[in-house]
Amino acid sequence: MKVWSREERYRALQDSDTEELERKHASLSHSIWRTQYHVQTLYGLLNDPDGFSFYNGKWHLFYQWFPFGAVHGLKYWYHVTSEDLLHWHNEGIGLRPDTWYDNKGCYSGSALVENDLCYLAYTGNNRDEKWIRHPYQMLAAMNSEGKIIKHDEPIIDPDPSYTEHQRDPKIFKREEDDMYYILLGAQSPDHKGHLIMYRSASIYEGWKKLGELKVRGYDSFGYMCECPDIEKIGDKYVLLFSPQGLEADGDRFRNKFNNVYLIGDLDLYHMEFIPDGEMKELDNGFDFYAAQCACQHKLRNTAVLEGWFGCADYTYEPTDEEGWSGLMTMPRLLTIENGKLLQKPVEETENLKKKKLFEAKKGSVVLDQMHALMPRAGVIEIDNADDNDFCFNLFTWGRDRGFEIAYHSAKKRLTIDKSSMRHITNAEFGTDRSITVENGLKHLQVFVDHSSVEIFVNNGEAVMSARIFPAKDETMIRMSGRDIDIRIYDANTANDDTFVL
Ligand code: FRU
Repeated sequence: MKVWSREERYRALQDSDTEELERKHASLSHSIWRTQYHVQTLYGLLNDPDGFSFYNGKWHLFYQWFPFGAVHGLKYWYHVTSEDLLHWHNEGIGLRPDTWYDNKGCYSGSALVENDLCYLAYTGNNRDEKWIRHPYQMLAAMNSEGKIIKHDEPIIDPDPSYTEHQRDPKIFKREEDDMYYILLGAQSPDHKGHLIMYRSASIYEGWKKLGELKVRGYDSFGYMCECPDIEKIGDKYVLLFSPQGLEADGDRFRNKFNNVYLIGDLDLYHMEFIPDGEMKELDNGFDFYAAQCACQHKLRNTAVLEGWFGCADYTYEPTDEEGWSGLMTMPRLLTIENGKLLQKPVEETENLKKKKLFEAKKGSVVLDQMHALMPRAGVIEIDNADDNDFCFNLFTWGRDRGFEIAYHSAKKRLTIDKSSMRHITNAEFGTDRSITVENGLKHLQVFVDHSSVEIFVNNGEAVMSARIFPAKDETMIRMSGRDIDIRIYDANTANDDTFVL
């Protein structure tokens, strides 16, 4: 693999680069791993979701983008929109690192929709001549024509009581006091991860630090907290963030970095979050990080979440070699039911199901139009799995196990295993993931999209996501399991993958 120099990583996009990028983007049309219904990078590297919002009748999402190759470098915000959270359109660059404050990248941040504008709060990643980082919290505003104007000055300067790691502002307004808030991830000088809260009466100025938002029962989180978010769902709050440096603990925290949440109450007077239960992972699979909820008033008692279908410091050789890396996960609807967080695919994903290729009821095949061919993009639904073991092998060839999804009913264990696939990525963090499904497995929905698998367990009790890279000849599916109901559909949808800069 190519080794990138600092100069190459921090090359700014010039008008004259458009043709080169367009050619590179066109070369990806040959890739067997480009997806049909996921937001994917035009070319180069995509990481965190940013500025997610419902504004002016559409969903707006930006992604962290390095245009020239599958490595982290000078970051832009690339803009995509959707009317249904299923079909996405490329809109071009949203934010460019073109000021002194963001000279080495427009880092992650969030959106606040107000007064006919969509405000974007982000981190200006400034580095000086000695390559020392100075993080500034910045603001921009997008109007209904999609024009984005940056505010000249930072709204929050670097805080000397933390290290250079201060970033990823989540901006929100509280109805209760009509004040604006920013929640920021930060690292203390003893290298611990913290969340800091700021408040202001005006969005453009007067931001004051309220202090660290403490989470009762925890002193700190790993060595850094990235991409925090706080959402009110019903009368509870969900606190989400991506801590770096958590120790693996049984089934939990086995990825290099993990994205976690806590449900609880927010006591701003004491700057404390009081959790109802333990810290959990948003995703129990291999590839999920830096998730963010949309600023939206469209859907009530629900938060709409997008995650990066990847993880910092991971490499995905099969597509890295093609010059691109990174997808967004499918959007998820978050609700709290009986004190538990549920994450469901959005309703529109029903429209993904095109042709029913296979159906079995109580284990007996009633429709088989696929002769064991694995659809490269499709939906698999399993019902009545309770008390029955089953095993699915996706993208197999010969006797290989391919990507295995297996349920052991006596132990109530659901396991995914990628160890048999030809291309395996990030194997040093393990090639299987398991969860215990406390009340037994009743329903499973598996969404497959060329280089991704997302598994929704019991209507959102857990989600397991995996990037996979099936080779050309890994084309078959094997299923075993008695008495279960299975339906397999081809996927309908194709995103717009046109080149827009
Ligand atoms: C998380 C992250 C953020 C940062 C961005 C830079 O993946 O490291 O903390 O703002 O990516 O691309």
